[in-house]
Amino acid sequence: MGRVALVTGASSGLGKGLARELAVKGYDLVLVGRRRETLEELAGELKGKYNVDAWAIDQDLSDLGKISELVGKVKNLGVKVNVLVNNAGMGIYGPLSELNETDIVRVVNLNYIAPILLIKGFLGDLAGERGCVVNVTSLAAHIPVPWFGIYTSTKAALANITDALRIELKPLGIRVIGVYPGYMRTNFHNNTIVSPTALRAREGPMGPVMDPTYVARRIAEKIDDPNFNGDVVPGFTYRVAGSLIRPLYPLIRRYVDRWFNRRYREIMGSMQV
Ligand SMILES: NC(=O)c1ccc[n+]([C@@H]2O[C@H](COP(=O)([O-])OP(=O)(O)OC[C@H]3O[C@@H](n4cnc5c(N)ncnc54)[C@H](OP(=O)(O)O)[C@@H]3O)[C@@H](O)[C@H]2O)c1
Repeated sequence: MGRVALVTGASSGLGKGLARELAVKGYDLVLVGRRRETLEELAGELKGKYNVDAWAIDQDLSDLGKISELVGKVKNLGVKVNVLVNNAGMGIYGPLSELNETDIVRVVNLNYIAPILLIKGFLGDLAGERGCVVNVTSLAAHIPVPWFGIYTSTKAALANITDALRIELKPLGIRVIGVYPGYMRTNFHNNTIVSPTALRAREGPMGPVMDPTYVARRIAEKIDDPNFNGDVVPGFTYRVAGSLIRPLYPLIRRYVDRWFNRRYREIMGSMQV
């Protein structure tokens, strides 16, 4: 049996692209998401095209009580997970007063707690030769975005624990890679939970729109490089922007404050008409 990668959120977007790129490199795949049929279709495609093994497991990862069940299901397949990609994620956008409590908890569980429980669940598998964890966070993790703060803070928390675990798990031979994408052309934006007011205020991308296949290829290259143990910021423009966020943080915060107040007044004004 070859090396095995478990990819969460493999039924679309970046996760689907990454599953394909890893299959090209000969990895067997465990594909996780909620849509069983889509995952099974992808498993069939990977087995047929790339001659690898692939299994589909449908699981709602925001249901934290079921994570140990998922770990058990994977062990029952008789495979050891060498690469764990925590990619599944969801956005939530709107004024705090309008957001539903259940939705908030679901997003925090999916984006932040589930990755931690999965890493813990597969530690035994990963602690061997060339074990690798990949956490997909976001460039937005480092920016204060009003109405989007629940999502961005889950990604900031994931970024923080990614850095901590990179140091903590190094003695076990486990690499921990953080991925910081900018705007990608995926279903993420349509799947984001949006409150009624925020629906009127949605804006287009604030940077270049990246193809998820391009991003997936950059990540797969790093997973396959046994000497790489760091962060991936795909795309030149986003790499430059990413390197400027920390030094310019006070300016960025002031800019966002002004921009939001202007935008907020426009939206509220238009709603009173
Ligand atoms: N697109 C962007 O611009 C962008 C930018 C920065 C970071 N990101 C991050 O990139 C990652 C991948 O997102 P994407 O852009 O590829 O979006 P996407 O096309 O919407 O894919 C999200 C994936 O997550 C899975 N998922 C959602 N909720 C789930 C749940 N409760 N349990 C299990 N799986 C769940 C979905 O599968 P099912 O529907 O089958 O469950 C889907 O496969 C996310 O972590 C996102 O935050 C995206």
